Amino acid sequence: MATIAPPARTAPAVTWGIADGIATVVLDLKSQPVNVISRAVKDEFLACFAALAGDPSVKAVAFFSGKAENFIAGADIEEFLTLSSAAEAERLSADGQDMLDRLARFPKPIAVGIHGACLGGGFEFALACHYRVATDHPKTQIGLPEVQLGILPAAGGCQRLPRLVGARAALDMILNGKTERAAKAFRVGMVDELVPPAILADITLAAAKRMASGWRPKRKRPGGFLGFLLDGNPLGRRLVYRSARKQVLERTGGHYPAPLAALDAVEYGLRHGIQEGLKREAQLFGQLAVTDVSRKLVQIFFATNQLKKDPGVANAPPPVRVERLGIIGSGFMGSGIAGTAVAQAEVDVRMKDADLARVGQGILAARAILDDRLKRRRITKFEYARLVALLSGGDTYAGFGRAELTIEAVFEELGVKQQVLREVEAALPSNGVFASNTSTIPITRIAEAAHSPERVIGMHFFSPVAKMPLVEVIPGARTEPQTVSTAVAFGRRMGKTVIVVKDSPGFWVNRILAPYPNEVGHLLAEGASIEDIDSMAVRFGFPVGPVTLLDEVGLDVAVKVAAVMQEAYGDHIVPAPGAGVAALVKAGRLGRKSGRGFYLYKGGKKRGVDDSVYGLLGVHPNGGPRPAEILQRLVLGIVNEAARALGEGVAHSARDGDIGAIFGFGFPPFRGGPLRYADDLGAERMVSDLERLAERHGVRFAPSEVLQEHARQGTKFYG
Ligand code: 3HC
Ligand code: NAI
Repeated sequence: MATIAPPARTAPAVTWGIADGIATVVLDLKSQPVNVISRAVKDEFLACFAALAGDPSVKAVAFFSGKAENFIAGADIEEFLTLSSAAEAERLSADGQDMLDRLARFPKPIAVGIHGACLGGGFEFALACHYRVATDHPKTQIGLPEVQLGILPAAGGCQRLPRLVGARAALDMILNGKTERAAKAFRVGMVDELVPPAILADITLAAAKRMASGWRPKRKRPGGFLGFLLDGNPLGRRLVYRSARKQVLERTGGHYPAPLAALDAVEYGLRHGIQEGLKREAQLFGQLAVTDVSRKLVQIFFATNQLKKDPGVANAPPPVRVERLGIIGSGFMGSGIAGTAVAQAEVDVRMKDADLARVGQGILAARAILDDRLKRRRITKFEYARLVALLSGGDTYAGFGRAELTIEAVFEELGVKQQVLREVEAALPSNGVFASNTSTIPITRIAEAAHSPERVIGMHFFSPVAKMPLVEVIPGARTEPQTVSTAVAFGRRMGKTVIVVKDSPGFWVNRILAPYPNEVGHLLAEGASIEDIDSMAVRFGFPVGPVTLLDEVGLDVAVKVAAVMQEAYGDHIVPAPGAGVAALVKAGRLGRKSGRGFYLYKGGKKRGVDDSVYGLLGVHPNGGPRPAEILQRLVLGIVNEAARALGEGVAHSARDGDIGAIFGFGFPPFRGGPLRYADDLGAERMVSDLERLAERHGVRFAPSEVLQEHARQGTKFYG
């Protein structure tokens, strides 16, 4: 491997050395875990490139990150928090563009060697260079995730990427905020060369040398013949834009302005040229960066990052490192947990079920998660073969003796859970942790069957496990801190955001969600239609309305969960009068899984409301409450319960509570979570709205003490 010339001049972050006519520039923000581009870094770059431009001994430049596992994570998101006006934000973008424009027009060619995350402004930096080499390491992730922060790529990304890979591929990346592994980035044409990490420096320096002697990369027209038809002429591009706009509107319901603005910036730039495109990009960034939507999404980014470091319990000893995982119950959830654990944490998984046939099915279902990753080329065939080999199972506890962590996902019955706990405890190693994936049973109750209740805990996953980003970790009354830190650390290794919550019925997520489907019965009884209820919720920004949610969860499961919640929280989760969902279950309607619930399903697709449901429930749609009231009742129920549960310490903080609601059931991220939403509307207004609802509809809407206290004091959940 070629040695990178030692820095001849030191600067805080950007350093460089010159050897054989090639300047090797390295970015390393020593005090930070990842490289980001801030105003200060921009100034250093400008000084560095001014010096290199004027140095006749420099014929070409090779650029690297000094971080072992990260290239550049983008613009410094912290700086966005300080922006007070659209004009200021536009200037920030224009300054970044100017710096990269100088790079793109730099009189000497620049090759860049990419290893680790190369995201947002980091990729835009690489795009402005003249040759890109990336490592084929899984840590090398390349993309433009800006729309996830409510902004758009604003350092030339909306201009340079479509010119490099074609409008279609660029829009796919930009509008979806995608990041790709290097192999895919290479296939699409985002990078020019793919190499093992050990030769990244050699190959990048060699490319810089080749360019110094006049060689220039020849790039094929992106996308082949289809690319020419669609990307290569204005007519084809118009089709591309139209279909992209339609997809964005379908996906975002019009709640997120950033993807449409990014589409505008790409379209405008391809029509009017790169300089005009850059101006447009900066203007749109200015507008977006100061929107409430972007502020909320940035807050979620920081909250999620803080949670990555939160051990979830005070003074916890370091977690036990899990290398082997036991799973009891290889059904729907057990197999989902097994497959995700193998795919994300690469641990050895041993599954156990009542008989071998079920274990076999569970292993197949777990393997389907890996199949999907292979199909979508998230893993290579070689990685797939290695990961599949980590899955095994049987109808005994053989192998559990080496499992540092065992997760049970057997039937939701206290007796069954206690039984498996008793059985497996005898097989587990002395420090083995037992976690239950129960959704409703108190962990302390389950732990009553244990010899070592200090090593029993709840790990509540959401379905489908491979996709849902949250895990609730629930210590029981006697759980010891290291058990908590072990469960938290392993949840994170599975790629999940983890919140630690109190052992109480429904824990956090199911508890604060409970009023949402519960209100359906009341609304239907008052004459609302199924479609109106669902569409109001979707219009607010929920991924699905409460009726669809019931069908998705399964009406039989929903009836059981509702009974637990109604028993625990009688005053606030009051059942509607009449037969209720149980009547549908009795009629064999279990929701999507049985092809009919409130809606009908055919070929896996929702086909519309089955009107006979109204008859079964004994209700008649006749207009019902006003749409605004439907929405208010659905949303305030959640907010009120969240406030109450936070007051009881079920979530540790408003931050944890909001992240739980957003990642657990899709409370609209652009509203920041139920507690932020309460802050935005103001506790006083919440309380008076709830009081009015309570007068008309009863005690379930009585404002929680916590909200009343905030209203009295004029305080908020977030200081
Ligand atoms: N700006 C500011 N801070 C950042 C940052 C960024 N772009 N990216 C990461 N950080 C910080 C994190 O907040 C965290 O700070 P902390 O230690 O004080 O809590 C620290 O860096 C380490 O981050 P992670 O814990 O997330 O480290 P991981 O190794 O788990 O992940 C990563 C690394 C994949 C780079 C992840 O941090 C990430 O996804 N970062 C954000 C990427 C992004 O969204 N980039 C676009 C920025 S916007 C932009 O570029 C606009 C441009 O178009 C003009
Ligand atoms: P499931 O019915 O698909 O799977 C349960 C599995 O446990 C079956 O394969 C069964 O054979 C096995 N089993 C039962 N008794 C056993 C025993 N004594 N020893 C070994 N295996 C045994 O159920 P599902 O949906 O996977 O639920 C499992 C657990 O996860 C439940 O506690 C449920 O409340 C919880 N949960 C379910 C969610 C969901 O959406 N389905 C979401 C979150 C938690």
